[in-house]
Amino acid sequence: MLNRLKELEDEAREKIEGVSSLDELKTLKVRYLGKKGELTALLRSLGSAPPEERPVIGKKANELRELLERAIESKEQTLRDLQKKDKWEKDRIDVTLPGRPVELGQKHPLTMINDEIKDIFLGLGFQIAYGPEIETDYYNFEALNMPEDHPARDMQDSYYITPQLLLRTHTSPVQIRAMEKQAPKLPVRIIAPGKVYRRDDDATHSPMFHQCEGLVVDTDITFADLKGTLLLFAREMFGPEQKIRLRPSYFPFTEPSAEVDISCIMCGGLGCRVCSSTGWLEILGSGMVHPNVLEVSGYDPRSVTGFAFGMGVERIAMLKYGIGDLRHFFSNDLRFLKQFN
Ligand code: PHE
Repeated sequence: MLNRLKELEDEAREKIEGVSSLDELKTLKVRYLGKKGELTALLRSLGSAPPEERPVIGKKANELRELLERAIESKEQTLRDLQKKDKWEKDRIDVTLPGRPVELGQKHPLTMINDEIKDIFLGLGFQIAYGPEIETDYYNFEALNMPEDHPARDMQDSYYITPQLLLRTHTSPVQIRAMEKQAPKLPVRIIAPGKVYRRDDDATHSPMFHQCEGLVVDTDITFADLKGTLLLFAREMFGPEQKIRLRPSYFPFTEPSAEVDISCIMCGGLGCRVCSSTGWLEILGSGMVHPNVLEVSGYDPRSVTGFAFGMGVERIAMLKYGIGDLRHFFSNDLRFLKQFN
């Protein structure tokens, strides 16, 4: 039995030494020291040894147990240290690696055009006004001289929230809001950029798009002021050679009304595919503020006059940058967006 103990000791020491993982070590611990382990079994069979040998064997067996316990413990510590070191090596940050570049974004082409529009009109002494995108029927239609059964409403089919509340179909309601706010003080000289909504969806129409409204009210404002202002705008935006053309049109909230064209920026007016051989491109609607509109907003149409216009921002961006499909603006495709540095 003493021989067996010695064998067990040599074997166990060698095995413990050779172990390379905590799991294996645990298995070994069970194998030698566990309840059904080899050393335990040997101690159990102590009864079969000659009585005079028993105390020696018992003592040796207990010494071996302690010895193995200590060996396992110290091996465990070694393995744990190794594990920690491995993990540390793996997670270590290499401060000498080059950093990941932070990609800088840039302005959306529509924002760029919007900024240009604002700059031009701020330079002319206009102020910027804003209105809500969810608008009442009153501001969107009624106050703009478009009562409930007015046929002009058909051209601006919208998204209704309630019968009296809709997503605004144009920025013109801001005309009313701006005048109401400031009446009867003169002059009113505002632009109102913002989002508008219509039930439209194709290559040149999006259900959400941007407009910029303009409104000037003062004593002695004439159609010539409207024309001069818009010509200046066209030249600032599209180049000093620009011409504009005013065509008679109809809007319930302006009288007289005019559609404004710029000379085609592709062919310079000679006629091409972009301008359908007309030499002209439509960019906005305009006119002299209708007396009814002045009246409901707190101004006396007998003593003041005004002009107003509304332009489509996408339309201007498409013309200026030669973009064929309006939906590019809203598809968030970086290949498109990165072209406008
Ligand atoms: N609100 C008109 C539209 O959306 C444009 C416009 C604005 C016309 C101001 C005249 C005056 O079509």
